[in-house]
Amino acid sequence: MSTDVRFGVIGLTRGLSFLRLCEVVGGARVTAIHDTDEVRGRAVAAEAQATYASTMDELLDTDIDAVVIASPVPYHCQHAIQALRAGKHVLSEVIACTSLDEAHALVDAARNSDAVYMLAENYRYLDEVELTQRMVADGRFGEVYYGEAEYLHDCRDLWYAEDGSLTWRADGRIGVYCTHSIGPLLYITDDRVASVSAAAVPGGQFDTEVSAPVMHLLHLHTDAGRVLRVRVDHTSPRPHQMAYYGLQGTAGSFESWRGNGDTSKVWLADAHERSGCYEAAQWHGLEEFARHYIPERLAAPPEAEVSDHGTSEYWMLPEFLDAVHGRRPAPIDVYRGLDYTLPGIFAAESLAAGGAAIDVDDPRRW
Ligand SMILES: NC(=O)c1ccc[n+]([C@@H]2O[C@H](COP(=O)([O-])OP(=O)(O)OC[C@H]3O[C@@H](n4cnc5c(N)ncnc54)[C@H](O)[C@@H]3O)[C@@H](O)[C@H]2O)c1
Repeated sequence: MSTDVRFGVIGLTRGLSFLRLCEVVGGARVTAIHDTDEVRGRAVAAEAQATYASTMDELLDTDIDAVVIASPVPYHCQHAIQALRAGKHVLSEVIACTSLDEAHALVDAARNSDAVYMLAENYRYLDEVELTQRMVADGRFGEVYYGEAEYLHDCRDLWYAEDGSLTWRADGRIGVYCTHSIGPLLYITDDRVASVSAAAVPGGQFDTEVSAPVMHLLHLHTDAGRVLRVRVDHTSPRPHQMAYYGLQGTAGSFESWRGNGDTSKVWLADAHERSGCYEAAQWHGLEEFARHYIPERLAAPPEAEVSDHGTSEYWMLPEFLDAVHGRRPAPIDVYRGLDYTLPGIFAAESLAAGGAAIDVDDPRRW
């Protein structure tokens, strides 16, 4: 008997890559599709030999076990709640929600459902993130007291629909798209954000209709006393780097590549020359450590690079399938998903208070 998990996919730009991912990973198949663009939805469904559903209710009535939510950000939370109430497992695109009210409703829905909720924070599964996480856990950086991350992606081309109206990416509803930055830092350090202080560059420079901030800068303090700095910018014209991370510990330092031939690099007290005022420590290639720490990642087949995000989704989907089969808890459950999302929501409160530090709720205590 097939134990394939049957998925309904919601939203077909990003959702298309999930169709390919199922083929590569196995154990999952797309049997239903919902997209508000009916022409597109029907065409993709026909090709995938899946059922087209014109509404969420229709989708949830089909014979599916789980949904992949790849609709625009403002719909993630309502789609997740609907699916959880219908007893369908949820793998939701980032960010989990856009307001505190939504976050509370999502926690309630997850608590009252037997179905699994997982935030599909794929950057947390990037090779570089997994490698540095294992090195930190192995003590190679000593005690990590500082981390930084940047999501720099000029998305202005996606601001306009065909009729010239503003899309969800430009109309201010997206909030702070911070999980690709905060998620990996919290995974690497096994920590939680306790407070956020935010600054923003106001919008309007590129199109007076688009008043959403050009970029957000978040200063975060964690439960364990770490300081994190995160820049989220999907407007500025400049070369992309959506997965920049940096760490500083008592015995090591790490920085992702910056471009122009640069590669990701580390300096470690236990492996490299001394760092001192008159002895300049040098950067060394991070990849030197991959063979030791992430051998299974180096052995991944070429087809594991199923999207623009390396092999991250190839490693993420099996963990969701394991949770659905009850083999282990979802690694980014509703609480962890909100640990990644809520600092961006509380950032709005900080901005309104002139950048004051605002405590970030721990949703486990709600
Ligand atoms: N994790 C990642 O690396 C990554 C990468 C790309 C996009 N995303 C996320 O995926 C989501 C979708 O992004 P996109 O670039 O595909 O957006 P998009 O606007 O290009 O496409 C959204 C699709 O959803 C459909 N849609 C719109 N409203 C809908 C609704 N209410 N119900 C059902 N379908 C609806 C649209 O017709 C369209 O086909 C966003 O949340 C985005 O942040 C994540």
